[in-house]
Amino acid sequence: MTDDKIIHIDMGTITGDVNGNDKPLLCLGIESSCDETSASVVDSNRNVLSHIIYSQIPEHQKYGGVVPELAARAHILAIDQVIKQTLERAGKTIDDIDIIAGTAGPGLIGGVLVGWMAATGIAQSTGKPLIAVNHLEGHALVSRLHASTADGTDGKTTVDFPYLLMLASGGHCQILLVRGVGQYELIGQTLDDSAGEAFDKIAKMLGLGYPGGPIVDTRAKQGNPTAFKFPRPLCDKPGCDFSFSGIKTAGRVFLDKNPGPHSEEFINDFCASFQASVVDCIVNRLNNAIRDARVKDANPKTLVVAGGVAKNSAIRSAMEKLAKDNKMVFAAPPMNLCTDNGAMIAWAGIENYKAGKIVHEPIAPRPRWPLTEM
Ligand code: KG4
Ligand code: ZN
Repeated sequence: MTDDKIIHIDMGTITGDVNGNDKPLLCLGIESSCDETSASVVDSNRNVLSHIIYSQIPEHQKYGGVVPELAARAHILAIDQVIKQTLERAGKTIDDIDIIAGTAGPGLIGGVLVGWMAATGIAQSTGKPLIAVNHLEGHALVSRLHASTADGTDGKTTVDFPYLLMLASGGHCQILLVRGVGQYELIGQTLDDSAGEAFDKIAKMLGLGYPGGPIVDTRAKQGNPTAFKFPRPLCDKPGCDFSFSGIKTAGRVFLDKNPGPHSEEFINDFCASFQASVVDCIVNRLNNAIRDARVKDANPKTLVVAGGVAKNSAIRSAMEKLAKDNKMVFAAPPMNLCTDNGAMIAWAGIENYKAGKIVHEPIAPRPRWPLTEM
């Protein structure tokens, strides 16, 4: 692995509690469940001391998506360097670290295995406590490490339990009532594709590249959201479930009838119209979730978005407005903590350590691990 492929994410603005503990706990977090090899040192006062992401996106781009075997091999080649440099950047040695946390699932199993074995090996050889982090829990809790507002600027909000969470990533799309660490109640979920998948597939249809979400987001900013008519599946029905495959199919059918070549204006309008339908579905379903009896009973004060799709500017601002209309506070992770990263795994490691969830026996990583089975 060449050094120039390592992205040193500058987390300079992320400082934590002023009145934190005198001697905070230090956690090394390791993430490798998809196409990012990442590690981070985070302390229990919510400071990110270092954070490194080695992104494999260029390696998968020519295939239009992540190739699991290539990803696993790339994780093996990168992991030692990523961990070593993360510790160096934090100005720490492994002796200074109190907790080792690794993603133990869900995800592409070859990749998960690489990071989880690294975490297990470090913990066993040093005798330090090991935490098996559910990747989705990393996304779900990261706003408690650091919350930002819709436009990505520093949010002064501290996100306390319970909160209502929109979790939207490449593989998942769920509305959850987060009651505490390890306590997730499913309020709604997609019946077919995830939101991220829909973004990626629309981008692929238009030949825009991979990953599609950020490209569609940028294009949509320059387009007209009412230019094309995309469906709003399930929005006329009660409940909090999603369906995105109909939106994607509508796009496919239209493009088959209008094969192009397409002008820049066409592409921008198409992206804006597609994105508007996703935003409307999310707002509609969340609106019902806020009125769900279980949610009303728990009375969450904060509406949180998480997962790679949480980077989407239109979704963030629509959710901020929805929160305001319902007298809730909106919180999102800063942009560089939305997509997969080691800092969210380190933070979930700290939260789980405080909850006493330490791994004492060797455990196998899990390709599938719903948040409701914690
Ligand atoms: O959470 P994540 O990094 O990986 C998974 O755990 O799946 O999410 C990746 C997904 C991809 O589908 C990507 O296209 C989407 O997040 N994404 C976005 C944006 N940035 C990333 N989707 C919409 N708008 C964005 N700005
Ligand atoms: Zn993820």
